[in-house]
This record gives sequence, C-alpha cells and structure tokens, in this order.
Amino acid sequence: MLDREKIRKDFPMIQSEESKGRIYLDSAATSFKPKCVIDKVTEYYTKENANIHRGDYDLSYQVSSEYEQVRKLCAKFLNAPSEKNIVFTNGASSSLNLVAYGYGQKFLTSEDIILSTEAEHASNILPWFKVSEVTGAKIEYVPLDHEGVFDLEAYKKILREAAGKIKVVTLAQVSNVLGNIIPLKEIVRYAHENGAIVCCDGAQSVPHIKVDVQDLDVDFLCFSAHKMLGPSGVGVLYGRYELLEKMDPFMLGGGSNARFDICGNILLKDPPFKFEAGTPCVEGVLGFGEALKYLMDLGMENVEAEGKELHKYFLDEMAKLDNVTVYNPKSETSIVTFNINGIFAQDAAAYLNSQGIAVRSGNHCAKILLNVIGASETIRASLYLYNTKEEIDRTIAVIKEATLEKCIGAAI
Ligand code: ALA
Repeated sequence: MLDREKIRKDFPMIQSEESKGRIYLDSAATSFKPKCVIDKVTEYYTKENANIHRGDYDLSYQVSSEYEQVRKLCAKFLNAPSEKNIVFTNGASSSLNLVAYGYGQKFLTSEDIILSTEAEHASNILPWFKVSEVTGAKIEYVPLDHEGVFDLEAYKKILREAAGKIKVVTLAQVSNVLGNIIPLKEIVRYAHENGAIVCCDGAQSVPHIKVDVQDLDVDFLCFSAHKMLGPSGVGVLYGRYELLEKMDPFMLGGGSNARFDICGNILLKDPPFKFEAGTPCVEGVLGFGEALKYLMDLGMENVEAEGKELHKYFLDEMAKLDNVTVYNPKSETSIVTFNINGIFAQDAAAYLNSQGIAVRSGNHCAKILLNVIGASETIRASLYLYNTKEEIDRTIAVIKEATLEKCIGAAI
C-alpha cells in the first residue's frame, strides 16, 4: 500500500514554499526527485567528486565501486541475467539511437523490414528512418485502432506473411501520448518465432509497471532515469548479451577500448563498457541508484497497482464531464489525453497553468499518431506516485469551469 501523504513529504518540489497550490501533472515528461536522490547528487559533488575507472586513489576506487553497484541494482530491478546486460547512456533517446545505429545500421539490408507503430515517440522512429535511409530496409507499421490500441492479430498476420524479412520489431511498451500498454510478452514471442528481434522503448513503462526482461524475453529495452525519480542525463539500454557483443558502439573514446595502436587497430572492451566512451554522468548514475532503491522499497507491484487505480479514478471523473473529449478512455496507466471541446489545446493548457496545474499540450513528439486519433493537438495530464485524488478532483473542477473566454484570456 502506498502512503501518498508520506511519499509527498520526500519530494522537495512538493514541500517547498514555491510549490504551494501547484498540481504537477507532467511526470511523463519528467518526474520530481525525492530528497534521497538530490542528496546523493550533492554528496557526490561535496564528498566524492572523482572520475570513475581511471584514478589510482581511494576516492576514485570508491566512486567506481558505487557506480558499478548501481549497475547491479538496475539489473536486479529489471531481473536482467547480469549487470553486464546494463549499458548506461544519456537517456532513452540515446539508448534507442544506439540500438538503431549499432544493430540496425550494422545488420539490416535492403531486403529487410523494420516493423513499428504509428504511436511511436520521435526517438523510436527517427533513428529507424535513418537506418532505412542508410541500409535500404523498409519500415512498416502495425495497424492501431482510433484509440491507438495495438492490433495483435494484424501484427501476427504481418509477421506470418513477411516471415524472415522482418528483422526488427521496435515499439513502445506504453505510448507516451495514450498510456496504452501493449502485450509485449506475446509480441516478443511471436517476433522470435518469426525470426525478428524486439527493441522496446520503455521510457513510459519502466517507471510505472513491473518490467521483468527475462519473463518478457525482450532483446533490447531502453529507458530514462529522469522519468523514474532519478536525475536527468542518465539512461539505460538493457540488451541481450550476445546482441550487445555483436553491436557497434555509437561513440568511440576513452574507457571503451582495451588498447589501440598507431595503425588504427582498436580492441574494444566487452559490453557494457565498449558502449560507455567518455566520462559518464557519474553523479546522475549514483542518484539513479537511490531512485531505484526508493522504488524497490515501495515495491513496483504497489506502484503499478495503485498507479493504475489513481489513473482509473481520473478517467472515471473525466467521463462525467460533458465538455471534454478523452482520447484514451480505456488506457491503463498514468496518462490522460484530452481536449476541452472547442478550445485549442495550448489555450486550455495555459488556462490550467493559470490555475496552478501543469500539463503538456501539443503533439507530444509523436507526430504520426495524431492522424490515428484524429486530433492534431491534445492536452496530456500524466500522473505519478506523488499525485493524489484531491489533485485530480481540483483538476476536474477547473476543467469543468473552463470556457473559451477564460482559456484565451490565460493564453494572451
Ligand atoms: N518524452 C517526453 C514526453 O513524452 C519528454 O513528454
């Protein structure tokens, strides 16, 4: 059971004087950070500032060891076979680009097909456009219904009919616009049976639902620390080890090679280190470790179950309003996407802002999806474990009272 009032006390962004009256509904963009995460980042700069894997002194050994402990913790969080499956990156976008570049550009050819969906965030489709441009591989899309729901039967048919040609299936486990959860385990099983690997964008799923990479049997999973209570500038690529071994790194540099010589011969280190050239975001990874501990202490089962409950409450309350269109009424997790009828999304968001409510409006970086749901701009309200029913009640009351006049007034 999550004690939300107790949880809220851990977040300076909720407790501060400046935050009074503010309702933060934009955790899908970035989450607030608990004090333990902020303290760890500060502790690094005040007591532990040293580079990792490079120094011959106690402080460097100590911080290197802490950094590697976070890798182990992350493996445990995902139930990965080993910490060697965990590559630290700059964020989910970096992780997805790394897979597209290191695997897609290296192994795909003009005979191959990349299968995706129209619900993808730019970070999980633009890198594959590049793969297509470089290799000649084609991109095809699994149909979605008008609420953006993945059509599993159509997916199976596409895979059956193009078996052997589809080499990569790449898709988000949870859409960043609609919050729909796809049946990833079945998608992966079917992909493997038909000779494809699966790259999953977990940016909106890993913070909210329990993700077990061995149970899902997924090949790659990419996500960011900053959407799950950790610092910005840190991401994770989980990869199946034999695929990581075959892949090219996106960057070369210090820390990722065992040796090189004047003739240009380079011997890269084994994964994950061959992918981690340059000084990483050390303080961010250490802070991420605290975020992982925080979530593990709460229990991801509880975060998931009670997150879904609060989300359902929000959707149920929205359904009682007659001045809104909700685009994801059957979605299961964290996100409510809507418009106030007759009001431009940005104007409505400005009005909500004037009432202390922070939401995102626009196309949410998923520019193809908006053709599917039939709205070019929407308002997205996204929840996390520090939000409360009272905040939802207040938001509903504000939406109910919204008029065109008030919204335009707030926007100018
Ligand atoms: N990818 C983040 C979002 O969907 C920034 O808002």
